Amino acid sequence: MRERLLAAVLLCVGAFQSMAGSAAAGVDAARIAREGPSGANWFLHGGNADGAHFSPLTAIDAGNVGELGLDWSVDLPAPDGIAATPLVVDGVIYLSGAHSMVWAIDAASGRQLWSFDPGKNVTPANNWTSRVNRGVALWADLVLVTVSDCRLIALDRATGKQRWSAQTCDPQSGYSITDAPYVGGGKVFVGNAGSESGMRNRGHVSAWDAATGRFLWRFYTVPSHIASENTSAAMQMAAKSWSGNALETHGGGGSNWNGMTYDPDTDRLYFGTAGAVPYLYSQRSPAGGDNLFTSSVMALDAATGEYVWHYQTVPQDSWEYNATMNIVLAELPLGGKPTKALMIAPKNGFFYVLDRATGKLISAEHYVKVNWATHIDLQTGRPVLDPEAMYWNYPSGSRVEVWPNEWGAHGPHPMAWSPRTGLAYIPAADVPSIVTWNGPEDIGDTIEAPETVDGKPHAPGKLVAWDPLTQRPRWVVEQTVAYNGGVLATAGNVVFQGGGDGTFSAYKADDGTRLWQVATGSAISAAPVSYTIGGEQRVLVPVGSGGAMQFSYPSLHTGSATSGRARLMSFSLSGRQPMPADVVVETPLPALPAQTDSPQLIAKGAALFEAAHCSGCHGKGAVARRGGTVPDLRHISTETYQQWDGIVVGGARAARGMPAAEGLTLEQSAAIRAWVLSLALELRRQHRKE
Ligand code: HEC
Repeated sequence: MRERLLAAVLLCVGAFQSMAGSAAAGVDAARIAREGPSGANWFLHGGNADGAHFSPLTAIDAGNVGELGLDWSVDLPAPDGIAATPLVVDGVIYLSGAHSMVWAIDAASGRQLWSFDPGKNVTPANNWTSRVNRGVALWADLVLVTVSDCRLIALDRATGKQRWSAQTCDPQSGYSITDAPYVGGGKVFVGNAGSESGMRNRGHVSAWDAATGRFLWRFYTVPSHIASENTSAAMQMAAKSWSGNALETHGGGGSNWNGMTYDPDTDRLYFGTAGAVPYLYSQRSPAGGDNLFTSSVMALDAATGEYVWHYQTVPQDSWEYNATMNIVLAELPLGGKPTKALMIAPKNGFFYVLDRATGKLISAEHYVKVNWATHIDLQTGRPVLDPEAMYWNYPSGSRVEVWPNEWGAHGPHPMAWSPRTGLAYIPAADVPSIVTWNGPEDIGDTIEAPETVDGKPHAPGKLVAWDPLTQRPRWVVEQTVAYNGGVLATAGNVVFQGGGDGTFSAYKADDGTRLWQVATGSAISAAPVSYTIGGEQRVLVPVGSGGAMQFSYPSLHTGSATSGRARLMSFSLSGRQPMPADVVVETPLPALPAQTDSPQLIAKGAALFEAAHCSGCHGKGAVARRGGTVPDLRHISTETYQQWDGIVVGGARAARGMPAAEGLTLEQSAAIRAWVLSLALELRRQHRKE
């Protein structure tokens, strides 16, 4: 009885709180503009409307950040880590993980308020994309999330119950979504991923009415192969920049799979686009043309979806240099007068400052080693290509180093911008692709971090503090892991970043001195955020390797020692909780069948593992991140070896995200099995030696 009474009282209090909450709660342009400067909330992916990942809070500063302590830490049921930037409004954290699970968590205590599961979302093309989700958006009283099978779902912010759902693309045609939705002016903006699916893929960005889920407009990022469908002036301009039949056979690509910034002052939407498919320009557009609007920065009128301007970062790209990185809007003193600028650090290693009214290039310099272009010509706005990285001009059999690599000098991990220091903070990877060129039909590509470059020790990862006025680095922190987490800059002269090595660090924003560091137990991908609880500044970091890198190249993002749990950690100056005691669980190695396969078969298996795309999920060299949902094949049991063909060729585990290998013969399957077994046996021998 007493329990029931208490429950009733709590219910009332709960109802009162959520009523009070919803009265103040609606998130819209006016509220973001009014409250943004206080820094109490983290409204949008990039914090405020400028997309700067900058907190105006100053309570935690370069003088006291060393005293930060843990408020709480909660583990999340997200074995594939967290790539999402959390949003925090009215003391509640909203974030998403693999398979578009969404959680609402009390920011004061870490207690879960609700969770949402969109249900089954595995489709032919999205086996890896379903494991990556880069976050939610908030508008009015809604939480918006995308699902890899192209659904856009609106949830009630108070309860997590679904309010509406819209289908934004066709997953059966190879489309998928990994990015967060973006909001502005009552609309939700959604891009898509999937140009590597091998199906026809024509990138587009669409707008939906946030309140009702009604479709509003769609902007295609590349033209149609059917001339009569290219009705707008923008599509007619784009159509002239293609030759050959790639649009018809492949769709053209150019997806926006990450990063948009909405400018409420001009009602414009800014975003970048990916490269085109097929990747090799001469295959794609044999009679010339720049292939608009691939690898470009786009400005659209958000009311109508109409083209305003574009700036193409890499015309005629053959390196997969996507420009889909986060976009920061800033006012810069250029030529003595304040100029509304747009800043982006795409995959290609250059940092661009554009005039955001016109899209005109103001300046561009490289922030890591590059050898695909000598410089960007400021008169024409075009890169001046360097023959060194033109792998297609080398003799067959060549190994060509291409700087930066195809995953990019800067990936989806957000960079930050501090208007206080006038510096952008880029989480950069300074690593080449090694392209093996055997003609257009046989292009191999792997990523290796060299220990030395030009005879000097070389750091694969870098936190680069970049001055956009001089286009030079102010300071650089060298890192042992290539791909690290997103960045948060604060007005307290502090920059926060999590590392692939599992550390969470604070640096002095103006000179890069490391001020504070803790070990979190797992690699970090996501960007930290800051806000206040009861007036006190907090810093929140999602821990746990997220994103696609962990599947293909775990060693470049996280080693086995840092493949711990996914969790959220909240820090403040009054935090006094002990850090969680981390256990890296080493499962004992299972028994193995004997190996009777020939060395020739084993060698064949190694090559097939790449050719059949197994490494895209199970890792290069079959070394996978431990603890995720894609198994490390060196640790599978005798029983699994017995079921091998059923799983690999027959598709027995397709529903669990292990696709049947299309076109693989039983002989080829046996070769891969032989190679995997040889690796497992080698691992046993090493363990015995230890
Ligand atoms: C799209 C991602 C993806 C690709 C590509 C992929 N796998 Fe898998 N694989 C998975 C996932 C996820 C699982 C775990 C499924 C489960 O939970 O049962 C798995 C499981 C397996 C298993 C069973 C492991 C166990 O312990 O039960 C084998 C064997 C395997 N994969 C081999 C391969 C081979 C060989 C290839 C290439 C021909 C390949 N996989 C390609 C994602 C992938």
